Amino acid sequence: MPKRITVAKTTDIPNNEARAFPVGDRMIAIFNQDGEYHAMDDFCPHMGASLAGGWIEGGTVACPWHAWRFSLSDGCWLDNPKIKVDIFSVEVVGDEIQVEFPDE
Ligand code: FES
Repeated sequence: MPKRITVAKTTDIPNNEARAFPVGDRMIAIFNQDGEYHAMDDFCPHMGASLAGGWIEGGTVACPWHAWRFSLSDGCWLDNPKIKVDIFSVEVVGDEIQVEFPDE
């Protein structure tokens, strides 16, 4: 059964920015795009940069190291959708950002 975990509060993440939070043994990037929140593995599959430090634009994040761009909605690398970052569903309850993680 999937687990829903409160990862952050809405006030932790300014508009059009992201922050990374530890959840278990991984870091999860939470993006705030105009009040819409997305959760993604923070580890860039190219060389491991923190995607939370990237640039958010038009539903994508560009990695801060070499500018690979990933869709915030499905985690796919825009240049090759076979490469993908894990994404997680998000629900905002009050001021809590809750993220659903699959059972592992
Ligand atoms: S580490 Fe992300 S594009 Fe290179």
